[in-house]
Amino acid sequence: MKHLIPAIIALVALLPLSCSPINNDYGYVIEDGVIVYNTPQRPADQVSMIGFAAEPLDTVRIGVIGLGMRGPDAVNRFANIEGTDVRAICDLYPEKLERTQQILERNGKARAAEYSGPEGWRELCDREDLDLIYIVTPWDSHTPMAVYAMEHGKHVAIEVPAATSVEECWQLVNTAERTQKHCMMLENCVYDFFELTTLNMVQQGVFGDIIHAEGAYIHNLDPYWNNYQDNWRYEFNQKNRGDVYPTHGLGPACWALDIHRGDKMNTLVAMDTDAFNGKKLAATRGDEDYANGDHTITLIRTEKGKTIEIHHNVVTPRPYNRMYMVEGTEGFANKYPYEGYAIRTQNKEISSEVDIYNLDGESFVSQDMKNALMVEYQHPITREGSLVETAKRVGGHGGMDFIMDYRLIYCLQKGLPLDQDVYDAAEWSCLGELTRVSIENGSMPVQMPDFTRGEWNKLDGLKLAL
Ligand SMILES: NC(=O)c1ccc[n+]([C@@H]2O[C@H](COP(=O)([O-])OP(=O)(O)OC[C@H]3O[C@@H](n4cnc5c(N)ncnc54)[C@H](O)[C@@H]3O)[C@@H](O)[C@H]2O)c1
Repeated sequence: MKHLIPAIIALVALLPLSCSPINNDYGYVIEDGVIVYNTPQRPADQVSMIGFAAEPLDTVRIGVIGLGMRGPDAVNRFANIEGTDVRAICDLYPEKLERTQQILERNGKARAAEYSGPEGWRELCDREDLDLIYIVTPWDSHTPMAVYAMEHGKHVAIEVPAATSVEECWQLVNTAERTQKHCMMLENCVYDFFELTTLNMVQQGVFGDIIHAEGAYIHNLDPYWNNYQDNWRYEFNQKNRGDVYPTHGLGPACWALDIHRGDKMNTLVAMDTDAFNGKKLAATRGDEDYANGDHTITLIRTEKGKTIEIHHNVVTPRPYNRMYMVEGTEGFANKYPYEGYAIRTQNKEISSEVDIYNLDGESFVSQDMKNALMVEYQHPITREGSLVETAKRVGGHGGMDFIMDYRLIYCLQKGLPLDQDVYDAAEWSCLGELTRVSIENGSMPVQMPDFTRGEWNKLDGLKLAL
């Protein structure tokens, strides 16, 4: 027995390498060198949200939580969308409320009911006369607020990322399924004009079968770190490794690849650089450590054999870049640093109004040709009346934020499924934890959870309801 003790100790020490226990329903085991996330069974009192549509609402009565840099602009956008009524506003700090009240007044709207303090957001959600809670607060408050709001009978729209852990992603899915309330993440980059037009071209087959897509959030935040209330963004990056802000890159890539509308993300591998600039940033604030790598790269493989590449970098001096790129068997679209298309000349799918003999799969099509394609394939959801002009006038990242809010209200008013459902919110947000876990285990592959619980193939492609 004496001889056995060292052997048992050695065996126990090796255990985590081959098989670590599921830490809870939302955790993972390591099997044969792969991190395998659990997909818990759907509880009996929950119903799938795939294709979910709620009762139409004539007027969408809105409560907005979080009036920092971004929240007041959302109120301004709603003030320019018919059929909305911003009835209640909230911020932790009461002095932040007045600016938003003035935005409402400037647009000829009534002042909203005011809430503030640590319990203010709960009191706002408790109101009986709101349909939608719009959450524009720091990341770690998104899921707790959304869950509470849905449990109190409200649809929710949550800024990006909707959740900061896999467990929070499941909380959103479970709560939406149990309460049958919409839970949409406010991923605005899917609504940028080049991305929407390209999506339409993808869906019309212009690029053949899409096999690969790329996206990123590369944005030097040096000038902005101090603007976030109570330094929440710096602190999150300082404490967390991995791609903490993946959704701007991943959203448009997933839409082009019909993720959970015929395909699903299966395996992910992530790798990061050391925190070279991150540690310098930390030093200026008296911190020794900085967890987030300066540049984080994620590779994903889908069930149908496609790939996605996602980057995150907020600390090096390089031009803003969301890397949006879509690659198909017959063509290619690229947004940064140069917006362009390349299409095989013999592609017959392309509309006859475009001179196909001027297309060339080896280089970008001419600027004239690109302009013609942008007109020809303008996405149907942006064709309504003067929508594009209004979006550009009211603004929000050049208009895409307006299109996003317009679509949210349009679908709620008509009782249609929203463009982004709770599974998008979970799939796009879960990268935060999955990339960290991959990196912490030497870039080990991660088998991703299936938030749809096997229903990823139920819808036949992404369809934005009209
Ligand atoms: N989609 C985009 O393009 C985009 C752009 C910018 C910001 N965002 C997102 O918007 C959110 C807010 O970002 P921001 O730039 O406005 O940050 P910010 O720090 O300027 O504003 C956050 C606001 O939330 C308030 N707040 C914090 N805790 C609160 C609580 N418990 N109750 C009520 N209010 C609370 C703060 O006082 C502050 O006014 C973040 O999730 C961010 O990722 C998205």
